[in-house]
Amino acid sequence: MQIRAAVLEEFGKPLVVQDIGLDGPKAGEVLVRVEACGVCHTDMYTASGVDPSGYAPTVLGHEGAGVVEAVGDGVTSLAPGDHVLTLFSPQCRECLHCASGKTNICLSIRDQQNAGHLPDGTTRLHRGDERIRHFMGTSTFAQATVMPEVALAKVPQEAPLDVLCTLACGATTGIGAAIYIAQVERGSTCVVFGAGLVGLGAVAGCTLAGAERIIVVDPSEQRLTQARDLGATDTLGGGAGVVERILEMTGGFGADYTFEATGLVEVMRQAVEAARIGWGQCVIAGVAGRGETLDIVPRYLITGRRVAGASFGGARGRDNVPELAQLYLDGRLPLDKFISHHLPLERVNDAFDLMHHQDGIRTVLTFD
Ligand SMILES: NC(=O)c1ccc[n+]([C@@H]2O[C@H](COP(=O)([O-])OP(=O)(O)OC[C@H]3O[C@@H](n4cnc5c(N)ncnc54)[C@H](O)[C@@H]3O)[C@@H](O)[C@H]2O)c1
Ligand SMILES: [Zn+2]
Ligand SMILES: [Zn+2]
Repeated sequence: MQIRAAVLEEFGKPLVVQDIGLDGPKAGEVLVRVEACGVCHTDMYTASGVDPSGYAPTVLGHEGAGVVEAVGDGVTSLAPGDHVLTLFSPQCRECLHCASGKTNICLSIRDQQNAGHLPDGTTRLHRGDERIRHFMGTSTFAQATVMPEVALAKVPQEAPLDVLCTLACGATTGIGAAIYIAQVERGSTCVVFGAGLVGLGAVAGCTLAGAERIIVVDPSEQRLTQARDLGATDTLGGGAGVVERILEMTGGFGADYTFEATGLVEVMRQAVEAARIGWGQCVIAGVAGRGETLDIVPRYLITGRRVAGASFGGARGRDNVPELAQLYLDGRLPLDKFISHHLPLERVNDAFDLMHHQDGIRTVLTFD
């Protein structure tokens, strides 16, 4: 079939929306009609050419939501008409990692996915004879995509896909950092550094878990307003001296849980130092620049602080994402508040501009 898709032709240049070919699903694969897709930093990062593992041409997009159109041989968990979210972080339920119960980092399709291929080593995207590689195993800046069954989460039909799509990356990353990695307990004191979608997701996760105090740190007053709306009890502008301020606010001890959602290594260090002596846990969600390192004075660790990282908030996509979608339907996760703009696919480059100017939290692309 022919589909409209936003193709990264050349790094540092605008994406080019055009018609390309998409082959049907092979064994174990599913054809999904994309209904909505959030525009995430990782898309812009890859488009810029700064990501050393990036390649072109490719179809970007990974925060996708859609409807199953057709399934290949052997697909048992999905059928046409099912609503799904795309998972750049798959869950096969069988590999050593999935079976361990200790991590959400599934090994089943990892190498082929990183190479831009579907699990059988080929691509379904093409332009005439030229094969086009997939991006993050998802390529959802397109009217349709073909993905492995293990990389799709089935979600309730009654929830709007243009809201749920935020769960396919940013929102789940933040919410999961709080509820799956930190496992915040009722009554906890939490600090969240950075109030983009990931940080605000962490605020929503801490609120859901019953945290008593949620201190949010961000230099943007507009984002702090949004954080208060989502349950932040205190807000700070950040920068030098912020760790001392947090210690003052917590009786000199630091917070039970701290979350870093900026990607800045100096903020990661503040998040470690703002965690409570004895048991404070710092969860790093931000992605630092290539070659950057995080400085931690070892005394912070010997005195009981712990540091953890998480990809996709530690969420096991096929198990946890449907649960989060249900929490949204139950009115317990305010995903609507994360969405600032809707734009048609044709205006994907405007969505990058909005992100560049920090205008809004999330732009969602829609498809006609
Ligand atoms: N781990 C994962 O799987 C995963 C998934 C998605 C995104 N991420 C990463 O998470 C990070 C956040 O993503 P986002 O979409 O929320 O980004 P964003 O740019 O929308 O938000 C970052 C926020 O940090 C704030 N900030 C800047 N300097 C600060 C400082 N000194 N102190 C406190 N806050 C400061 C900015 O004002 C901004 O509001 C990025 O590094 C992104 O790459 C990770
Ligand atoms: Zn993302
Ligand atoms: Zn697995």
